[in-house]
Amino acid sequence: MVAIMKKAKPDLRATIAGAKIVQEKDATWKKLCMMQRLRKRLKRRKIQKENEAILRAAIDDATITSSVSVPKTLAEALPDDAQKKNNDPRAIVVTEATGSFNMIGCNKAWENLCGFAECEIIGKDSSILQGPDTNVDGLRDAVSRLFDGEQKVNVVTTNYRKDGSKFTNFLTLAPLRDDATGKMTHFVAILNDIGESIARKTSQV
Ligand SMILES: Cc1cc2nc3c(=O)[nH]c(=O)nc-3n(C[C@H](O)[C@H](O)[C@H](O)COP(=O)(O)O)c2cc1C
Repeated sequence: MVAIMKKAKPDLRATIAGAKIVQEKDATWKKLCMMQRLRKRLKRRKIQKENEAILRAAIDDATITSSVSVPKTLAEALPDDAQKKNNDPRAIVVTEATGSFNMIGCNKAWENLCGFAECEIIGKDSSILQGPDTNVDGLRDAVSRLFDGEQKVNVVTTNYRKDGSKFTNFLTLAPLRDDATGKMTHFVAILNDIGESIARKTSQV
């Protein structure tokens, strides 16, 4: 019996020591994860503050924000009826809701604003509109807010037309849902060139 105890004691000590190491590793891992989450949250808050500052600087009243009505389904965003689709004054583009958000279609107002034809953009992502002054962090944050469940997200960015000319894009992003299931199927964006409105405001100052 004594012999068994003597043999068991060191094993037990090793087991306890092992468990302690596992516990400590667990605690360190949890602390690391917590710090990472905190860092992410702080970064997001900083981006959102910068974004809000850009929005405030771009337009100091809410007229553009509140006047943008957002389609709820793919059929509303890009109707099959070509006349209806192309008479919509809102510059609309629809993307997939996965991957790098490849575009699946746009209307005439979007083509007029961006200079690309619909057939040129299908299967491509919005980076075709981006350049050195694009607010990439703000856009990334806006898209991640859609995934967090926000129904309408605004962001201002500099974009570039096909001919390379710049415009100030007040972008409204929203999810599109399947009518029957309510499941998110795509994202829609409404682009608004607010360059003129900024110029008007600056000339009034
Ligand atoms: C529906 C939709 C429309 C978008 N439209 C534009 C746009 O007009 N201009 C732009 O610069 N980025 C636009 N983006 C954002 C880019 O596609 C991309 O998500 C963003 O630049 C972040 O990309 P990254 O995570 O690869 O850096 C749009 C995204 C979505 C989901």
